[in-house]
Amino acid sequence: MIFPPERYWLRANFLDTPKRGQLRVLRDGALRIESGRIVVRTSTPPERTDLPVLDVRPSWVIPGLMDLHTHPPQTRVRGRAGLTLLAWLKTYVFPEERRFEDPAYARDRYREVFQEALQAGTTFLVGFMTVHVEALGVALEEAEASGLRVMLGLTLMDRAPESGLERDPRAQLREMEPLISRWHGREERFFLSLSPRFALACTEACMREAAAFAQAHDLWIQTHLSESLPEVREALRLYPWASSYTEIYDRVGLLGPRTLLAHGVHLQHEELRRIREKGAAVVHCPTANYFLHSGVMPREALLAHEIPFGLGSDVGAGMRYSLWEVMRDAYFVRREAPENLFYDATAGGARALGMEDRLGLLDVGYHADFVVMRANREEDPEEILRNWIFVERERAVEAVYVQGRCVASCDACCRPLTA
Ligand code: GUN
Ligand code: ZN
Repeated sequence: MIFPPERYWLRANFLDTPKRGQLRVLRDGALRIESGRIVVRTSTPPERTDLPVLDVRPSWVIPGLMDLHTHPPQTRVRGRAGLTLLAWLKTYVFPEERRFEDPAYARDRYREVFQEALQAGTTFLVGFMTVHVEALGVALEEAEASGLRVMLGLTLMDRAPESGLERDPRAQLREMEPLISRWHGREERFFLSLSPRFALACTEACMREAAAFAQAHDLWIQTHLSESLPEVREALRLYPWASSYTEIYDRVGLLGPRTLLAHGVHLQHEELRRIREKGAAVVHCPTANYFLHSGVMPREALLAHEIPFGLGSDVGAGMRYSLWEVMRDAYFVRREAPENLFYDATAGGARALGMEDRLGLLDVGYHADFVVMRANREEDPEEILRNWIFVERERAVEAVYVQGRCVASCDACCRPLTA
């Protein structure tokens, strides 16, 4: 039998968070999965069934984790401590990203990244790629082979002469068009974005071009906003007409409901208000903020303004493609109940992407993207969650499924289906 088949029952203990602060528990329940979607959720599974049954009890099943900000080309520059953002980019990141001119090098790196992410229980990964269109195509192929669900962004930089990464955005966008036709929106598993790197590396014309092109092709926008204070000062020096960093992006048309703004550590009240009004989302990357000593993000400001936000590992400023570590570090930033962190890593991330009707929960109509987690069935679910976040992390991951298909597992858990 092909593992798993098109249609099956999944028996497990289930844990998800329909709302921030609300942990939903279904013990000894079942999901019926058909063609990659959940079609039934029940606490009283049928005693007899013709369908195969994947019984993972006493393990638990959670929605796949959504890592909303990563740099897959930066895997090899992890842990380069000692510098802050701007010097770190120049010294370590730009030279490494230049190597992605070579598609073979890109393929090896991206293959490693996608495997690492899956093994940590990430089922949706948003990646800030490089300026190289060919390497972006390679990344999409590798994502397809890995089984991961992805949103990958072409980086735009037309004002960074010393980086060796400066490109003409019009030529890049033209070259990108075949990739959009082939991949964007396919199976709701592959999405493309444009990633004007940040205001320091882009001219106004480049950012306007990106906004118009994204609008015309329904692409997402990813960029960095207000990560460190020297960055904010430099942005305002380059754009003297702007009263804030956020205003730069707003004036060129980059803020909208399909915009992901990484970091937002140093935002003023007026900027938060504007982000909320435009429907953009923020990606909170606590590990990276600590690593580069960029500041401590006031998460309560996002919550007070009801700005949708998700979590990002932000490798290579973050250390590992593991949202378990990011949830832990988000706790260090702000003391919160574990179910809040779990929400931010799952349903909250889906909301930030505008995909809350199909990702982030274990519910009817949702994609069957889930992680089988080892835990003692008898324990209190909050206790279990705390133990995963602070102690076990990805060590507790037994298997990972995307669209109902097993895409990563350890030897112990590939349990045979009983028919
Ligand atoms: N700002 C602009 N580019 C980058 C990057 O690659 N990483 C981080 N952390 N911040 C950035
Ligand atoms: Zn980043």
